[in-house]
Amino acid sequence: MNPNCKKRMGAIRLETMKVVSQQEIAPAIFELLLQGEMVEAMKAGQFLHLRVPDDAHLLRRPISISSIDKANKQCRLIYRIEGSGTAIFSTLKTGDSLDVMGPQGNGFDLSDLEQHSRVLLVGGGIGVPPLLEVAKQLHERGVDVTTVLGFATKDAVILEDELSQYSKVFVTTDDGSYGIKGNVSVVIKKFDNEFDAIYSCGAPGMMKYINQTFSDHPRAYLSLESRMACGMGACYACVLKVPESETVSQRVCEDGPVFKTGTVVL
Ligand SMILES: Cc1cc2nc3c(=O)[nH]c(=O)nc-3n(C[C@H](O)[C@H](O)[C@H](O)COP(=O)(O)OP(=O)(O)OC[C@H]3O[C@@H](n4cnc5c(N)ncnc54)[C@H](O)[C@@H]3O)c2cc1C
Ligand code: FES
Repeated sequence: MNPNCKKRMGAIRLETMKVVSQQEIAPAIFELLLQGEMVEAMKAGQFLHLRVPDDAHLLRRPISISSIDKANKQCRLIYRIEGSGTAIFSTLKTGDSLDVMGPQGNGFDLSDLEQHSRVLLVGGGIGVPPLLEVAKQLHERGVDVTTVLGFATKDAVILEDELSQYSKVFVTTDDGSYGIKGNVSVVIKKFDNEFDAIYSCGAPGMMKYINQTFSDHPRAYLSLESRMACGMGACYACVLKVPESETVSQRVCEDGPVFKTGTVVL
C-alpha cells in the first residue's frame, strides 16, 4: 500500500492524491483529475471527502466521484464553486497534492442489469457528474440507457456530449435557452415508465419529484446531499428522517448518499 494511504474505519482511507489536471468546463464549474491508490476501491455514486488545503477550513468538503479509471489509477471530480472551500480547490494545479478521505458512502447498485435492460438516468445541474460513471458502466454491459438532464440555462450545461456516447440524452433548461424548455418532468412524463431501474441526482426539488413519481418502483434511486462534518457516520450532522418513524434516521454520508425512493423523508 502507498505509504500515504492508511486504513481508517473499515474501507475508508486517507490518502494524499496527486492533481493530474484541472480545467474550467463551464462558468465556475471545474473538472479535477486526481491520481492515487484509492481509485482501485471506488464505485459509481460514492464520494470523496476533500480537505481544503488551507488551515482556516477545518471541515472537509464532499464531492462525488464522476468517473473512475482504474487502469491509470485516476478519478475525475466535477464541482461548482459555491463558497470559500470550493474556490480554493479551483486554484489547484497539476502536480499539487490533495488530502482525500474516501471512497465514502454507498454508491449506486448496478447489479443484475444486463444487456437490453432499460435504465433511466435523471440528472440536474451539478448533480449530473456522478451519473457519468453509471452511464459508462451500464453502456459497457449493453444496457439501453436513456438520460434526461436539467439545467437552469445554456451556460450551465455540462457532460451532454460525453453522456451521449453512452446513452440517448435529452436536455432541458428552465429558461429554454438550450434544448427543451422546462424541467426534466416535461420529458419524463412522455415516457412509458417501463424502465428496469432509475438513477437520479440533482437539486432538492428534482429529487422530490423523482421520489414521488417513482415511489413504488422497485429499483429507483436518489443520490442526496446534506451538510456534512465528519463524513464518516460519527457526528450525525447529515441525518434524514425515515417515513413514519420518529426514532430512526439515515446518515447521508454513511447510509447514503444513494437511497431507494420512498425510504427517506425529503
Ligand atoms: C454526497 C455529496 C456529494 C456532492 N457532490 C458534489 C459534486 O460532485 N459537485 C459539486 O459541485 N458539489 C457537490 N456537493 C456539494 C459540495 O459539497 C458543496 O458545494 C461544498 O461543500 C461547498 O463548500 P464551500 O466551502 O465552497 O462552500 P461553503 O458554503 O463555504 O461551505 C461551508 C460548509 O457547508 C458545507 N456545504 C455547503 N454546501 C453544501 C452542500 N450542498 N452539501 C454538503 N455540504 C455543503 C461545506 O462542506 C462546508 O462545511 C456534494 C455534496 C454532498 C453531500
Ligand atoms: S457527516 Fe458526520 S455522520 Fe454524516
